[in-house]
Amino acid sequence: RKHVTVHELRRMKEAGEKIAVVTAYDATAARLVAAAGADVVLVGDSLGMVVQGHDSTLPVTLEQMTYHCAAVRRGLARGDGRAHLVGDLSFGSYQASPDEAVKSAMRLAAEGGVEAVKLEGGAEFGEVIRRIVRAGVPVMGHIGLTPQSVHKMGGYVVQGKDSEKAQQLLKDARALEAAGCYALVLECIPAELARIVSGQLRIPTIGIGAGPHCDGQVLVLNDLLGLDDAFTPKFVKRFGELGAAVKGAVGAYVGEVKARTFPADAHSFHSSAVRLVPVTP
Ligand code: KIV
Ligand code: NA
Repeated sequence: RKHVTVHELRRMKEAGEKIAVVTAYDATAARLVAAAGADVVLVGDSLGMVVQGHDSTLPVTLEQMTYHCAAVRRGLARGDGRAHLVGDLSFGSYQASPDEAVKSAMRLAAEGGVEAVKLEGGAEFGEVIRRIVRAGVPVMGHIGLTPQSVHKMGGYVVQGKDSEKAQQLLKDARALEAAGCYALVLECIPAELARIVSGQLRIPTIGIGAGPHCDGQVLVLNDLLGLDDAFTPKFVKRFGELGAAVKGAVGAYVGEVKARTFPADAHSFHSSAVRLVPVTP
């Protein structure tokens, strides 16, 4: 099937076809989500939380993002090549200057194999975005709840809840489109606001905790699989119970090792040619 390009995503919005985005952090997950039909695979810096065990995305480095992007790229190469691959620019890799941002984006594209990068922030990142796009790397924007600014926001809280904040968010969305973003993630904002923003932009909006009117949706793979039974925020729907499934399978393995029923003969190798003489130390 045809590869999903930035132009195809724009076409999907115009045709009213919803865009399904999901995260992946390794080759196995990438292969599975692509085979399941995801249009876009995002190597999110959420890996800082779900893979590395940090309580924010701030400690994730560009080096680590590059490593995970390359693994996901190799996983996708084993599939039909349809999915579009985006990688998050890590905290600190694009905020200090447009020059640094361009270098970071080019590294993620060249070494990580992504076709686009995502970065968090509003109108103030217009120049950074213009420079990255001019260098040849498409940029996906991300506004609303921006986890890299967790301390500035005062926690992981819904954004744009009053008219003034909502107006600012719409202004940011338009500025990001004008700066050259090809798509825009809207995270944890009222559905009413996401509907208006989606209607006013020509580029597709990808929502997470932003209601049903966005042009696409994104979820963290581990969340939608139900891998962590201690974490289910309001905007997550668990489409599976893989946490319980993993515990069940590993528990069965542990039980069989203890009970000596695994490995059975079927899992064992044999050779009639093994004739050993005693070895003296
Ligand atoms: O890091 C991430 O997974 C993300 C998505 C949730 C949008 O940025
Ligand atoms: Na992210």
